[in-house]
Amino acid sequence: MNDLLKGKRGIITGALDENSIAWKVALKAHEQGAKIVLTNAPIAMRLGTIKQLAEKTQSEIIPADASSVEEITNLFTKSQEALGGKIDFILHSIGMSPNIRKNIHYTELNYDYYMKSVDISALSLHKMLSVAYKMDAISQWGSVVALSYIGAQRVYPFYTDMSEAKAMLESIVRNFGYHYGKKNKVRVNSVSQSPTKTSAGNGIKGFAEFFDLADMQSALGNATAEQCAEYCLTLFSDYTKMVTMQNLFHDGGYSTTGVSMEMMDKLG
Ligand SMILES: NC(=O)c1ccc[n+]([C@@H]2O[C@H](COP(=O)([O-])OP(=O)(O)OC[C@H]3O[C@@H](n4cnc5c(N)ncnc54)[C@H](O)[C@@H]3O)[C@@H](O)[C@H]2O)c1
Repeated sequence: MNDLLKGKRGIITGALDENSIAWKVALKAHEQGAKIVLTNAPIAMRLGTIKQLAEKTQSEIIPADASSVEEITNLFTKSQEALGGKIDFILHSIGMSPNIRKNIHYTELNYDYYMKSVDISALSLHKMLSVAYKMDAISQWGSVVALSYIGAQRVYPFYTDMSEAKAMLESIVRNFGYHYGKKNKVRVNSVSQSPTKTSAGNGIKGFAEFFDLADMQSALGNATAEQCAEYCLTLFSDYTKMVTMQNLFHDGGYSTTGVSMEMMDKLG
């Protein structure tokens, strides 16, 4: 498939290094003819290798802390200038929990950290959509995709406050999807991705073991970051125009499997 996103303009958040899901989305969107802007928190610019990605995709980097309405406003203003018009697609690929980073148990969460997790991982989507809505920065039939995880809906003890941040993210997808759909036929969806070996993923205690377990529980195995990127591209394309306000599982069948025979054999 070539030129799936030809002529489209996009903003891609969250590309930190080459393992990031957003990194693969940026490469593939560029391959498919899109013009993109890359953005990440100013601190991530120093830690990551986003400049290499910008060179590869011939894109501008516009730093923005996704918890700051002011910085998001600047992001939309500058992105429209850089890309020469309204935005056709946005990838929200942002997640961070200081509680997880510091390995704090769910029953003992630090509430300042908790607010940060929710602000950065969930409210940032509302802030982006709200700024874009007010500025009328997204074209008709534009598409916004946020990345989620099944911990939004089921209990995964190690996922602590991110469970609630993702539940809120999925709710924002539905509610803002309604308002933006009515206003300008803009679509908003979340993709609930398999465990994936990235900086955010590897930061979770016991992630490596859990990754293997999920792989065993999925008919097709875990979906890779690259496959996730391909799925996101279909949602940015004009072939999925009537899909909105959905949480779409991209997990090799994990979410609807009770137990696999491999798991049974392992326990038996
Ligand atoms: N890795 C997994 O197992 C997995 C599974 C399902 C969903 N997800 C989700 O996918 C998304 C991308 O994560 P990833 O796995 O590619 O890891 P990643 O660590 O590469 O990406 C997370 C990004 O969030 C950015 N970020 C953090 N704070 C920010 C802020 N204040 N402002 C702007 N950006 C900020 C980071 O700089 C980083 O680029 C996240 O929403 C994550 O929850 C990941």
